[in-house]
Amino acid sequence: MKGIILAGGLGTRLHPLTRITNKHLLPIYSKPMIYYPLEKLVQAGIKDILIVTGGNFAGDFLMLLGNGKEFGLKEISYAYQEGQGGIAEALGLAEHFADNDSVVVILGDNIIEDDLSSSVKKFERQPGGARIFLKEVQYPQRFGVPVFKKKKIVRIEEKPAKPKSPYAVTGIYMYDSRVFDIIKTLKPSRRGELEITDVNNTYIRQGKMHYDILKGFWSDAGTFESLFKANDLIRKKLIKGKKLFLKGKE
Ligand code: DAU
Repeated sequence: MKGIILAGGLGTRLHPLTRITNKHLLPIYSKPMIYYPLEKLVQAGIKDILIVTGGNFAGDFLMLLGNGKEFGLKEISYAYQEGQGGIAEALGLAEHFADNDSVVVILGDNIIEDDLSSSVKKFERQPGGARIFLKEVQYPQRFGVPVFKKKKIVRIEEKPAKPKSPYAVTGIYMYDSRVFDIIKTLKPSRRGELEITDVNNTYIRQGKMHYDILKGFWSDAGTFESLFKANDLIRKKLIKGKKLFLKGKE
C-alpha cells in the first residue's frame, strides 16, 4: 500500500495568502498544513509516500520536508502538476510511483482527527475496489455529497445545490491499481477539471465502493472560513487540559 498526498492546484480562493506561498505550507496552528496528512499516513503505517505539488513554490516542500526524517521516513517522493487540471489529474501523475500497488490518497488541505489504521486494514481485506470516508456537515453543498438507497451509496453529486444527504465525501480515498485506468477515461468537468467524484462514481457503478464514517473532526482548509476552522479544531485539541494562557506566559 502506498500513500499519496495531493498538494497541487493554485489555491486561488486564498489570495492574497497564496500569492507568496503554496496553500499547503500555510500554518494550521503550530505546523504547516502538509504535516497533518503526512502524519496521518505515517500513523497508519504507510511509509512509501509521494507528494504531488505545483505552482511557483514547489521547491519549498523539499526545503521543509526533505527526505522525511522528522516523520520517521527514509525518503519522500515528489511529483509536479502544471496548472490545476483537477484532483484526478494530480492523482494520475502518481501512476509510475504506485507501480500497480493500491493507494491511500489524502488531499493536502484535509485535516482529520481519526486514526486511519483500521480502515486501511479493512481496505486491504476487501476484494479490490475503493473505499471513501464520509462526515456529516452543516453545509454539504460545498462538497461531494453521497446519495443513498438502503444505506448503499448509489452515486455522488459534486457540490449539489440541493444535497440529498447531510454527508460530505471527505478528501481521503483508497483505491486499487485500476484507478489509473479509470482516470484515463475521464473528461474535464464544467469547471475544466478531471473530477475525483467521477472516479468514485465509476467504482460505485461497478459495485466496488465501500465507505466509513469519520468519528472525529474533519475540515478542509481551502477557504478563509475553513482555514480558520481547521486552525481552531487543532488548537482546541492541543490545548485540551493545558492551561496555556496563564498571565504573562502568552
Ligand atoms: O475536501 C473534500 C472535497 O474536495 C470533496 O468533498 C470534493 O468532492 C472534491 O472535489 C474536493 O473539493 P474542492 O473543490 O474543495 O477541492 P479543491 O479544488 O479545493 O482541491 C482540494 C485539494 O486537492 C487541494 O488542496 C490540492 C488538491 N488538488 C486540487 C486541484 C484542483 C490538486 O492537487 N490539484 C488540482 O488541480
